[in-house]
Amino acid sequence: MKKILVVHGPNLGLLGEREPEIYGKATLAELNSLLEAEAKRLKVQLKIFQSNWEGAIIDFLTAERKWAEAVIINPGALTHYSLALRDCLSAINLPAIEVHLSNISAREEFRRHSVTAPACRGQISGLGLKSYILALQVLAEMKR
Ligand code: DQA
Repeated sequence: MKKILVVHGPNLGLLGEREPEIYGKATLAELNSLLEAEAKRLKVQLKIFQSNWEGAIIDFLTAERKWAEAVIINPGALTHYSLALRDCLSAINLPAIEVHLSNISAREEFRRHSVTAPACRGQISGLGLKSYILALQVLAEMKR
């Protein structure tokens, strides 16, 4: 069974109440349940992690790098400045997809650039919860 890490970065714990006009009304628990249901259908095992701390995310990815075969990551605002997270994604050398609920290309200038995406296989942005589901479907099939 394929093993995939799902990482939610800073402030994603507030989904549902955080700017719902931008990020939608679903809570993080609801998003995680959707992911678990799709993972079951695809026969994929998930480990899901949320943190507001850059270092905790790096520690999680590092600790789980041997268990996992792929990574789905929404780095939140770390997307736009965390070279340490980008280095970690390169270092663990797992196929990763960066996801965003909102369309980061259509928002403020500072959100348009991702420093972490170059360390990923691809980026899915702007499709709400579907950004995560599509990433899961792609990684479930990916050979590496
Ligand atoms: C986000 C977009 C980021 O710019 C923002 O800092 C987030 C959420 C998204 O999912 O749309 O925290 O990653």
